[in-house]
Amino acid sequence: MEIQDWKSMAGMAGVYRKARELGLETNIAELETFGFTVIEPEKTGAPAGFAQRLLDKVMEIARQEDDLAVELNKHSDAEKPAYGRQLFHLLERDPVFVEALMNPAVRTMGSYMMGLSYRLFSMVAFVKEGSARSTHMHTDSVGVPTPLPAYGAVCNVSWILTDYTPENGTLGMVPGSHRNCRHPTEFEQPKFIGGGMDDSMVTPVMAKPGSLAVFTGNTWHCTYPKTSDGVRAHIATAFCRNYMNPAESYDDMPDALIAPHGPELARLLGRNAWQGYRAEGPKLENMALVRAAYQSQYG
Ligand SMILES: [Fe+2]
Repeated sequence: MEIQDWKSMAGMAGVYRKARELGLETNIAELETFGFTVIEPEKTGAPAGFAQRLLDKVMEIARQEDDLAVELNKHSDAEKPAYGRQLFHLLERDPVFVEALMNPAVRTMGSYMMGLSYRLFSMVAFVKEGSARSTHMHTDSVGVPTPLPAYGAVCNVSWILTDYTPENGTLGMVPGSHRNCRHPTEFEQPKFIGGGMDDSMVTPVMAKPGSLAVFTGNTWHCTYPKTSDGVRAHIATAFCRNYMNPAESYDDMPDALIAPHGPELARLLGRNAWQGYRAEGPKLENMALVRAAYQSQYG
């Protein structure tokens, strides 16, 4: 049917039209039904070799950083290798990450899940080299107490940079878990039998480099134990609803990096947020910017 600018949709009909234009309607149906979807590389509209460019830059940063500074989940030497490396605050580190954020498929899925006023919550690379144990079952609604709202307060749109298979330690999803509206308990963690993970409740995300793995902030997920050699990497671009406090601060991001991308990037980073006012009261013009900035991108 024709998607019109129905007033009751408060602008979201435009997001849906964009999703249709990009061929993402099936992905939206999968997201609604199962709580996750994979957008194939061809549907992202990214230029050829984009995933490799992202991977090269991520690995360059990983080699330059002190690994002890970023391996947060390493509890002791005995537990190595654990979850791998996390490279935080990527957006500011190279223009290629801004390009990854501003990709139309990424933003369409982000705004579909979080609303027109969505904000960037964080942009973090996850890198594993060699074998690694699995990550525990969790949701990405970090800091949101159970019960979770019916619609996620955050969401995850991840650029997959290497082949994602169970052997390579891919993400494991619990289909339908986004409707549980709570975090998994200790009793719902994957069991390990004979060294392998019992995945009877979990399904692996199978994805080629350049795909986008998309899931809601309510979806239960973990990672498969990585048994292969070599690198496994993805970049988690997390968005949040406008009332959330983003995990990363972009206050110091140089204007020169933001300006070429128009008002929508500034808005995504909270440059014109209506929150945080003092005695002068909220800036109503900034509330209007939410709509105006989006329409400048999507019409
Ligand atoms: Fe997660």
